[in-house]
Amino acid sequence: MVPAKHHHDAHHHEVDPAEMRQSLLIHDRVFARTHREIAEWLGIDRGSRVFDAGCGVGGMAEVFAERAAEVVAVDLDDENVRHTVDRIDAATRRAAIDVRVGDLLRLDDPDDAYDLVWCSRVVHHLPDMLAGVTELARVTKPGGTVAIREGGFGFRVLPDDIGYGERWFEDRLAAAGVGRFGRPPVTEPDSVPYPFGWSQLLVDAGLVDIRAKTFGFDALSPLSDDERAWIEHHWRRWLAREDWRARLQPADIELLGALLDPASEHYVFARTDLHLRAGLTVYAGRRPA
Ligand SMILES: C[S@@+](CC[C@H](N)C(=O)[O-])C[C@H]1O[C@@H](n2cnc3c(N)ncnc32)[C@H](O)[C@@H]1O
Repeated sequence: MVPAKHHHDAHHHEVDPAEMRQSLLIHDRVFARTHREIAEWLGIDRGSRVFDAGCGVGGMAEVFAERAAEVVAVDLDDENVRHTVDRIDAATRRAAIDVRVGDLLRLDDPDDAYDLVWCSRVVHHLPDMLAGVTELARVTKPGGTVAIREGGFGFRVLPDDIGYGERWFEDRLAAAGVGRFGRPPVTEPDSVPYPFGWSQLLVDAGLVDIRAKTFGFDALSPLSDDERAWIEHHWRRWLAREDWRARLQPADIELLGALLDPASEHYVFARTDLHLRAGLTVYAGRRPA
């Protein structure tokens, strides 16, 4: 199914591609509005050529296609590429589109090809992040922009005290989740340590005029179907997977079960005080002319 295998898949064996795709699809529906805000901030010129490195299922590629003259997108996963192609709506697109399977570490694009190179939630998976961003900078035109989405804030939806179990449940969940994803450990032969922040990474890749912005997302009860599906998707996998469950205290496993059970008096979506909040952070730099 996946012709161009990432040579680090072994480190990601715990991530099921179908489940990951599901997560990307729901994410793109929930954050569609935020994606457009990000595109505004990036300032896409109608004549521009945009490259989306590791496009996933195409949430941003779709937005770029509405605004730019040309959009090229690559992803290692051919199913993701198919989703991206399918979602770019012929009615709203104005750009020429080229979506293909490809590895951003080995691009066959010429130097100085794009006005904007976008790479969202991919760099932290790379064994050598600086080599990856340096490759992105290479295909960016002098004066053009490299923008990466990294960091940010994971979502929360509950108040600290929900009147059941110990307070700060979501903070414990977030702490238990640390280290589930991300780059191969630095003890791996070709994993290069990079113990600096995202802005420094752009500087070290030769970019200037670095800027960053966190795009807030807020939704109050009643949440939309997509917002509910997003929360359920993230919480259910804590119960579905033995290796994840093992990271939680038994009392929190029980609490999570009650929150997800429509028959329980603690069912999360019966609450009227939900506040889904998240922060999507983008770092951008310009390639010197
Ligand atoms: C967490 S997803 C992010 C997808 C999308 N950019 C987003 O923000 O929703 C990471 C994506 O990067 C792709 N990917 C990982 N390493 C890659 C590489 N070296 N070259 C191209 N794509 C890569 C994966 O197949 C996956 O679709």
